[in-house]
This record gives sequence, C-alpha cells and structure tokens, in this order.
Amino acid sequence: MLFLNQVEKVYTNGSNRIEALQEISLKISPHTFLAIQGKSGSGKTTLLNILGCLDRPESGTYLIDEEDTSLKSDNGLAALRNNKFGFVFQSFNLMPRFNALENVIIPFLYSSNPPGKPKEAAQQMLTKIGLADRIKHLPGELSGGQQQRVAIARALVNNPDVILADEPTGALDNQTSQEILDILAELNSEGKTVIIVTHEKDIAKQCPYVLTLSDGRVVDLKKPGNNNLSNGGVTVL
Ligand SMILES: Nc1ncnc2c1ncn2[C@@H]1O[C@H](COP(=O)(O)OP(=O)(O)OP(=O)(O)O)[C@@H](O)[C@H]1O
Ligand SMILES: [Mg+2]
Repeated sequence: MLFLNQVEKVYTNGSNRIEALQEISLKISPHTFLAIQGKSGSGKTTLLNILGCLDRPESGTYLIDEEDTSLKSDNGLAALRNNKFGFVFQSFNLMPRFNALENVIIPFLYSSNPPGKPKEAAQQMLTKIGLADRIKHLPGELSGGQQQRVAIARALVNNPDVILADEPTGALDNQTSQEILDILAELNSEGKTVIIVTHEKDIAKQCPYVLTLSDGRVVDLKKPGNNNLSNGGVTVL
C-alpha cells in the first residue's frame, strides 16, 4: 500500500517559488494499474519521483506498507527503493556500450539480495519479454520497442512490487506503444502494481484508474466500472 497524506513539493528557483505538488492525499492498493495524466508542468514526474523515493516531499507524509519514509536515512530510502520499485523511462536509459543481457544484469550489481545466477535470471527475464534472440545486441542495434522491452526486463530483475513508468510509450509509434502497454498490463495481471505517466489519451483510456493532475493538484480520478475485473484500487482522500 502506498499512502500519501497532504504531500507538497516546492521548488525554489531564485526568488521564484514553484508549488509542483499541493495537498496530494492518495491511497494506492497493491495490484493497481494507474495512469497519471495532466498538462506539461502539472507535476506528473514530480509525483512519480516521490512515489518511487527518488525524491522526498517538502511536507506531508508518505507511507510505504505502513513505513514512514520520512523516518528513513538516505541509505535506508535507497534500499527500500531498490527492493520495492522498478523504473521505466521514456528514453529507455540503457547503457549504450553494454548489450541487452548486460543491461539487465546491471541492477543485480547493486542489489542487496542478488539471485544465485544473475546471468540465467536476466536471460529468463529477456525471454519472458520476447527478446531471447536479441540478448547480444547493443541498444543501438535494437528498435525503440525492443529497447523499451530491455528496460522493462531490467526494471523487473529485482522482483519489485511496483513498476513506475514515466511516459514509457512517449518515444514509440502507436503499434509499438500498444505492445508495451500490453506487457505492462500482463505484469499487472500477474500481481504487480503498475503506475504510468502518459500524455496519450489512447493509452490512459485502457488503464482501469486514471488520475488527472492540474497545477500540482489532483483534479480528477476515474475508476473502473463494475464489470472491470481490475484488482487493486486508488482512493483520493
Ligand atoms: N528541479 C526542478 N527545479 C525547479 N522546478 C522544477 C524542477 N522540476 C520540476 N520543476 C517544476 O515543477 C513543475 C512540475 O514539473 P513536472 O516535471 O513534475 O511536470 P510534468 O507534469 O511531468 O510535465 P511534462 O509533461 O512536461 O513532463 C513544473 O512547473 C516544473 O517547471
Ligand atoms: Mg514529466
């Protein structure tokens, strides 16, 4: 369970104060599939970064499975982040000089609980994601969709409960975007919580929960109808 209570994030730029998030109070249950939408600058990335413990709120509280993140040291927070969250980005963020397999193995090097056989585990993950025949390819030798699949495999290696994806389809054509969304939906059906930021209406409308931000505030939450079989749940408090 992710629980934000009255979370605020302020950036100061000289004498300029930007209230990037204001009064965000939100509960996200395990197994939720949530899209976050809103205009450029509305605070989507800021919210995702706080959810993923890449950043801390200015005020308010953020509990992860009832643990108060504000009581954690930076190292404690980093450990929680590595165990709980997997990240996927618009621009894939793969290491250009490492092949697909090596890119997936990299997080194991930082894991507090690496598997016995990292290479086999990474290979398995790439196979699951449909890239068994591309493991020796460098990122530059893969299509955008294939690179994003490598990035998803990398996000999965530590077996996180939650996948956080900031515009994961932003750099992809429609068909490839749909393939990536289908992979994320399948991971959700296997039990992962998936939270994506998206500009694209076609993507958002396929997500059971859609949260809309405007000027750093939650202005809308769309929930699934009765006949939707989605697990999880989102509540705006
Ligand atoms: N490091 C920073 N320093 C100062 N201001 C920032 C910083 N990061 C974000 N902001 C400001 O905070 C607000 C929210 O930014 P954020 O990146 O969360 O928006 P976004 O909804 O993700 O936008 P986009 O759709 O363009 O990615 C914006 O007004 C932005 O200019
Ligand atoms: Mg953003």
